[in-house]
Amino acid sequence: MPALSKKSSGFTDSVIRRMTRVANKYGAINLSQGFPDFDPPAEITDRLREVADVGPHQYPITWGAKNFRDALAKKQAHFMGRDIDPETEIVVTCGSTEAMMTAMMSVVDPGDKVIVFSPFYENYGADAILTGATPIYVPLVPPAFDFDRDQLEAAFKQHPKALILCNPSNPSGKVFTYEELKFISELAIKYDTFAITDEVYEHIVYEPYKHIYISSLPGMYERTISCSSLSKTYSVTGWRIGYVIASPTVIERAKKVHDFLTVGAAAPLMEAAVVGLEFPDSYYKELRDHYTHMRDLFLGGLKDIGLKFTQPQGAYYVLVDISEFGQGDDLAFCEWMAEHIGVAAVPGSSFFKEDINDYIRFHFAKKDETLNAALERLRKLK
Ligand SMILES: Cc1ncc(COP(=O)(O)O)c(C=O)c1O
Repeated sequence: MPALSKKSSGFTDSVIRRMTRVANKYGAINLSQGFPDFDPPAEITDRLREVADVGPHQYPITWGAKNFRDALAKKQAHFMGRDIDPETEIVVTCGSTEAMMTAMMSVVDPGDKVIVFSPFYENYGADAILTGATPIYVPLVPPAFDFDRDQLEAAFKQHPKALILCNPSNPSGKVFTYEELKFISELAIKYDTFAITDEVYEHIVYEPYKHIYISSLPGMYERTISCSSLSKTYSVTGWRIGYVIASPTVIERAKKVHDFLTVGAAAPLMEAAVVGLEFPDSYYKELRDHYTHMRDLFLGGLKDIGLKFTQPQGAYYVLVDISEFGQGDDLAFCEWMAEHIGVAAVPGSSFFKEDINDYIRFHFAKKDETLNAALERLRKLK
């Protein structure tokens, strides 16, 4: 058999999906892979039923159905604070996953460098491999997940093509402050670097924190490629609808990359999702309140049990400090925990570039009964 590609040989099996398999094997409550166990808004699923009868069922315009882009442009203009042209500034993709890949392939050449904050969402490593880019990792140091400004500037001095910014961050729950974003944007301008954002948790931010789009900072519009999706905002991770928003120059290129990657997002799902994009502001407030409730329930329970953890400012994950259990091997700890405690988490080391083995990640986008059952089991840890 001929050799398989060198490029793909660097890929490791996703630890998150591995933990899901481990959870299934032991019947553990799965708090590893981040998806809700509650339903999407009924308006969206009701509309999907109608769409099944009336269509569309054929290829959409490759860069997204017009009514979907119109609704998305209106919604994002409202939250991002500027007009967005649905014809020239949007590409609809198969999730933020494809949006990020499309963004990378549109601006990064093999041999280019990209800055990635660590801990990071595992896809960024794969995106770098597929585009032939070399990541420069800059630590976000737990428990506060601050970065060292000199270290970041040292990374910029290597003249990276882009910086990847996951804000709000998975797995740390960090929400970047205005001052941090301003510092990053000044460096991006000084060293002529793109900011590729992953903002899938843009609407899951806890009071008093606020999500600020880096694209809204002075001088950043032309150099920001904003990626996000409907997955988390409307609890439809399986629908695979995401998007890139950027300047017409970038989008013109991104449309072509996207066309060759996937042709387009699913036409009936885009059609059904339009009602979601038209929800009033109250929907996003209720979403935040719902996530605040889940966060308080789960973190309150962890505190009662006496576990140490870092406080998420956004997204729906918590990093629990397992150093008191003294194993030094977070993967072994997670496998042991799934088997003997009955709850699955993700070893933190799969997110850190640094040698950090003291954290495991739980996600809490779950019904109350799921979270309460998990907490009941986690009591046995003590
Ligand atoms: C930071 C981050 N980006 C992207 C994704 C995937 O998003 P999508 O479903 O839009 O591809 C996830 C899913 O967990 C995530 O946590």
